[in-house]
Amino acid sequence: MATNILWHQHEVDKARRAEAKSQRPAIIWFTGLSGSGKSTIANLLEKKLVEEGKHTYLLDGDNVRHGLCGDLGFSNSDRVENIRRISEVAKLFVDSGLIVLTAFISPFKTDRDFCRSLMQENEFIEVFVDTPIEECEKRDPKGLYQKARQGDIKDFTGIDSNYEAPVDPEVHLTFSGQTPEQSAEMLYEMLIEKGYLT
Ligand code: PPS
Repeated sequence: MATNILWHQHEVDKARRAEAKSQRPAIIWFTGLSGSGKSTIANLLEKKLVEEGKHTYLLDGDNVRHGLCGDLGFSNSDRVENIRRISEVAKLFVDSGLIVLTAFISPFKTDRDFCRSLMQENEFIEVFVDTPIEECEKRDPKGLYQKARQGDIKDFTGIDSNYEAPVDPEVHLTFSGQTPEQSAEMLYEMLIEKGYLT
């Protein structure tokens, strides 16, 4: 634990950085099972935001686990540490004025709430990509469900590791035939409506 450290208040703060980019910084936190569509929707939303001149960053499960969280596996404690690191990084990016999109399973409510607790009011938008496990397993884009069913992968979310569904997310994307493009467009419109894109 570090001691004798003091916070520096800099001349340029979050509000000044965000003002320069005509946006209100926030974290758009996608959560859902593997194969639910989190990354696809986040990717489409980021593309739309960038096309409109917004400054964003997308933190994605598989990618972050190549570097920042490359030492972590999928035990409960490793997942907690994974989300803790990501939350702190996302907070720094928000402080830099960015709209941050995150696409992690983030299966535990306490960890998602930890990230929310780091942020100011209205800076954390939880998006529950609520695709049923039967559908995720049918898609199985990486063949991981099949491996998990065969016992070749342990601690697989939804099979032998728990997923705690959000109780009161800001956005609940139910599985109702809506395409990822439509979901991304709906989220984009919501960001305009709620004043994040100025
Ligand atoms: S977590 O639970 O938030 O820490 O997971 P995350 O960092 O988002 O990583 C999820 C991606 O890792 C792959 N993968 C697994 N997922 C769940 N359980 C197990 N055991 C596992 N092993 C590997 C999988 O490709 C996940 O990607 P997505 O994009 O969610 O399908």
